[in-house]
Amino acid sequence: MKSIIITGGAGFIGSHVVRLFVSKYPEYKIINLDKLTYAGNLANLKDIEDKPNYKFVKIDICDFEGVLKLMQEEHVDGIIHLAAESHVDRSIKDPFTFAQTNVMGTLSLLQAAKAYWESLPEKYEGKRFYHISTDEVYGALELTHPEGIEPPFTTTASSSEHHLAYGDKFFLETTKYNPHSPYSASKASSDHFVRAFHDTYGMPVVITNCSNNYGPYQFPEKLIPLFINNIRYRKPLPVYGKGENVRDWLYVEDHARVIDVIFHEGKIADTYNIGGFNEWKNIDIIKVVIKTVDRLLGRKAKIVTDENGHQVEVPEDMDLITFVTDRAGHDLRYAIDSSKLQRELSWEPSLQFEEGIEKTVRWYLDNQEWLDNVTSGDYQKYYEKMYSNR
Ligand code: NAD
Ligand code: DAU
Repeated sequence: MKSIIITGGAGFIGSHVVRLFVSKYPEYKIINLDKLTYAGNLANLKDIEDKPNYKFVKIDICDFEGVLKLMQEEHVDGIIHLAAESHVDRSIKDPFTFAQTNVMGTLSLLQAAKAYWESLPEKYEGKRFYHISTDEVYGALELTHPEGIEPPFTTTASSSEHHLAYGDKFFLETTKYNPHSPYSASKASSDHFVRAFHDTYGMPVVITNCSNNYGPYQFPEKLIPLFINNIRYRKPLPVYGKGENVRDWLYVEDHARVIDVIFHEGKIADTYNIGGFNEWKNIDIIKVVIKTVDRLLGRKAKIVTDENGHQVEVPEDMDLITFVTDRAGHDLRYAIDSSKLQRELSWEPSLQFEEGIEKTVRWYLDNQEWLDNVTSGDYQKYYEKMYSNR
């Protein structure tokens, strides 16, 4: 029986990975190790919490002794490491917490895995440390043709059309690290530690760098759920700068699915970029979200005259768009080329964006209690701190 620790399993992506592994591998023991910060929520796993192959343990990854003891007790042979401070805006206000969790926490986890696995007769045989990282470590790309192509922008890894989206450069696995925010600097540093543990001690590691995820259970400090929640209550939608920044969006279940493939089949000491081949300017994605929420809530569209004198229908909540002061050091464009994954492990995103965003908006509207619970209490203070007088 495999015994696997998934760190950060109560968070957004982690909960989808835990759910997939618990359901797909009844013969594995899945241990969700999470500190339950503001971003961790056991309600994300209500549907699987009673499964016999699932266990939750509340530990801080920085607690080396606690993690080592857990590994020894549970005879752990695999770690999928997602626990992190993950929000760029928070990292700008409080970089220390990001260095502590993302750098020191990852190091503590690596040291615990090393101590335990090296104490076994088989040592690293059959073991794996899988580190989940971000495309933000590569820095930012230019918009070489800012006018972009007509939506939908989604293409596939096997097509070359994505090169027409907003720029002619993409992040490859060989792209030099060039992080700009305290968040991406901390993730870059953790990636280096993971590689160092392979190169120095022979630990069987694998790393993936993924683009922006969206989907159910994402904490509403990130663009899409925050905007869905604000549209619901007809609150202003704070668009940073001019909304011209480009992100590449991937449905979270597609990410969980490829994490499964890479955990089992990825090459030791290798790196894989994961992306959706789905680049959007923030302002365009925001308009899609407004249209979808308004349609699903049955809100009426207004008829207005456009710049060409034509009468057009506009969702009434378009008025909520409010341009605010830009994020400090705001990276202009992220775009992942994940064709290595397609070539070597036959993986491609399964969902077109239009389908993914519809599913996502529906989920938040059907789960308003979840949204209300995570936006009560401290969230209000957070919102005030980040957005008042911006
Ligand atoms: P999240 O913020 O939703 O969840 C993070 C989880 O980690 C929470 O459950 C939290 O309680 C836990 N955690 C935080 N500090 C901890 C600590 N010290 N010890 C134990 N647990 C701790 O994050 P997410 O969006 O699900 O991201 C998961 C991972 O994927 C992160 O490593 C992030 O850098 C990476 N990533 C995220 C995205 C994205 O778009 N969300 C994209 C690429 C990579
Ligand atoms: O690229 C992968 C990264 O994607 C992950 O590593 C991070 O963990 C994840 O948070 C995400 O980072 P971003 O900074 O791109 O995500 P966020 O949802 O915070 O912002 C998306 C874009 O929307 C970004 O250009 C900033 C903009 N934005 C965001 C918020 C919260 C706004 O315009 N207004 C907002 O209120």
